[in-house]
Amino acid sequence: MLDQQKFSAKLLTWFKQERAHVPVPGRGQKDPYAVLVAEIMLQQTQVSTVWPYYRRWMETFPSISILAQAQLDQVLKIWEGLGYYSRARNLHKAAAYIMQEYAGELPRTAKKLIQIPGVGPYTAAAVASLAYNETVPLIDGNVLRVVSRLQQITEYISRAKTKAKILKDLKALISGEEPGLFNQSLMDLGRVICTPKAPKCHACPVSSMCQAYAAGDMLDYPVKPRKAPIPHYNIVIGLIQKSGEVLIQKRPANGLLGGLWEFPGGKIKVGESEGDALLREIKEETGLDVNIGEKIGSISHAYTHFKISMSAYYCIWKTGNPEIHAATENRWVAQKALNDYAFPKANLKILDLIAS
Ligand code: ADE
Repeated sequence: MLDQQKFSAKLLTWFKQERAHVPVPGRGQKDPYAVLVAEIMLQQTQVSTVWPYYRRWMETFPSISILAQAQLDQVLKIWEGLGYYSRARNLHKAAAYIMQEYAGELPRTAKKLIQIPGVGPYTAAAVASLAYNETVPLIDGNVLRVVSRLQQITEYISRAKTKAKILKDLKALISGEEPGLFNQSLMDLGRVICTPKAPKCHACPVSSMCQAYAAGDMLDYPVKPRKAPIPHYNIVIGLIQKSGEVLIQKRPANGLLGGLWEFPGGKIKVGESEGDALLREIKEETGLDVNIGEKIGSISHAYTHFKISMSAYYCIWKTGNPEIHAATENRWVAQKALNDYAFPKANLKILDLIAS
């Protein structure tokens, strides 16, 4: 077990000298709502990616009450492109919950924070320690990597049991005086020093206490099961045109890319042509028969759990009104108004092809 005093002192000294002044969304903020937004955005997402989204969000929704009153479509538009859209939907739900249960003021303990919709153990501990100085440790991917190396943890890092053991060890290690800084230090250490492939051990404040460093096997940690290959799908979509308007459909609120708008289309089956797949998918999703027009182009996009190649065609509406099948809403919109709607990244890439 690590020496708590020595570990904390080395880590915090390093942080204060090297890192505390480096801007990270939410850092140094005492407004717990600002910390909540930043910490939710930062999960699985790079700091540089988060910055513009964080600024735009805080300008548009500067308080919990303003967020609670906003329309979900506007919330998703601000989040558009940041991915993991359930986080945006949950933040919106969280705002309503905080208004109702706490008159708009975030509760002060991790135990209460975790009851808020969409707030998990990480976010609860981050807000409680950063904004309220509660002595509660947290784990994210960076922290897990740091601790797995410090202690040469050979169990799979993704197992609940391994994480519980690490949290227990961190409870004994965390600084009682500066828990928020302690948590940020460990995350920063993982992000900038104890990196996955090329850790900068020469610059690490706690390398002398690191078992993996002593053994020279840092790259063997954290131990992970082999990843399943990421699936790849071929997709075709249609921009169905009717008197200067285009048909868009809203995805169901829950689930993948939930609540976002998209153009009708779907997966191309093995052996199927793009044209046949498009006609079939449009029929299945809207009940419409269309004529296929000019090809707009093709793009590729890597989502977190799968990759796609997507082709898009203009289509010409023939007759009838679109029906509701998998989507929750159909809407005809002027092509220049498409920018007002939140789309998945792949659809935005197609719109970029049209604009260029
Ligand atoms: N990653 C996510 N939140 C962070 C924070 N507050 N400081 C450093 N790294 C982080």
